[in-house]
Amino acid sequence: MSHELEQLRDAALAEIAAATGEQVLDAARVRYLGRAGSISAWADRMKSLSKEERPIVGKLLNEARTAVTAAIQQSAERLRTMKEATELANIDISLPGTAAELGTLHPLTQMLDRGIGIFRRMGFALAEGPDVETEWHCFDALNTAADHPARNEQNTFYLPDGRVLRTHTSTVQIRTMQSAPPPIRVIAPGAAYRRDEVDATHSAQFHQIEGLYVDEGVSVADLKGTLEFFLRELFGSDSQVRFRPHYFPFTEPSFEIDVKSKALKGGEKWLEVCGCGMVHPAVFEEVNKARKDDAYDPEKWSGFAFGLGMDRLAMILFGIPDLRLFAGNDLRFLRQFA
Ligand code: PHE
Repeated sequence: MSHELEQLRDAALAEIAAATGEQVLDAARVRYLGRAGSISAWADRMKSLSKEERPIVGKLLNEARTAVTAAIQQSAERLRTMKEATELANIDISLPGTAAELGTLHPLTQMLDRGIGIFRRMGFALAEGPDVETEWHCFDALNTAADHPARNEQNTFYLPDGRVLRTHTSTVQIRTMQSAPPPIRVIAPGAAYRRDEVDATHSAQFHQIEGLYVDEGVSVADLKGTLEFFLRELFGSDSQVRFRPHYFPFTEPSFEIDVKSKALKGGEKWLEVCGCGMVHPAVFEEVNKARKDDAYDPEKWSGFAFGLGMDRLAMILFGIPDLRLFAGNDLRFLRQFA
């Protein structure tokens, strides 16, 4: 004859194994293992048992509890799996799914990537600097006098601490020369900021690719060769490139570059795309002062620098009529560049 506890255990196990739902299972758990459950009741009865009986019943009680608890867990698991299987069987796998929308690169990013790719093939390395700049990097170090209009609050975003949102990427010329001696051959793509009235061709934020080349014996011929090559790669070998004399405080001589190309939408006319020139000796001197050495001796080294307006290039290359489209987040516009 088995002990009453063993009979209880076997009854519980049979009931649990046959349970067809979570509620039935839970009711069984309460009935056997709950505070007033029939197996639990044996724990209270222990006190009244004889010394000899106590360890035998104690052992049986433990075994019964462990076995029933494990069976409940197993059964719960079995019920859950069954439920999931039924749910899955009800899914109509022939229904069409929801297509994931694929993003694409922004036209300006595409433009920058193309530009960067061309310069990299010519051996230019990438350099960078912060958008929030010191006035010194933005103006003083670039030979830009205190009364220059670019320094006016009407034209530049000043922060309360005196720093500025860089008005051009030429700041990276200075940062590069501060951190390394010549020779230098870098480009610095990035954003620049001016207090412009926003319209179809002006924006408070725009993008440039800055370039700086410093070595022994660099001349205007190198400058012209490099930028003509760049623009012909971009606009086709039959496009025309024109250098006009211009003024920048940090280059001498200075030029602006225009392109004309059949490839351009909107007719054949000269379009200004770049400012450039030979690095002014005063810039080298200022860098030497900051470096506390003579690494950029203007008697030994010369160089050229340029700044390409990338928004402008993207507009004329892609035939975009209004600069504001770049920042408008209109998917109908952006999808055209997928
Ligand atoms: N920093 C000038 C601008 O933003 C462009 C430039 C760069 C000119 C380098 C000369 C040399 O207009």
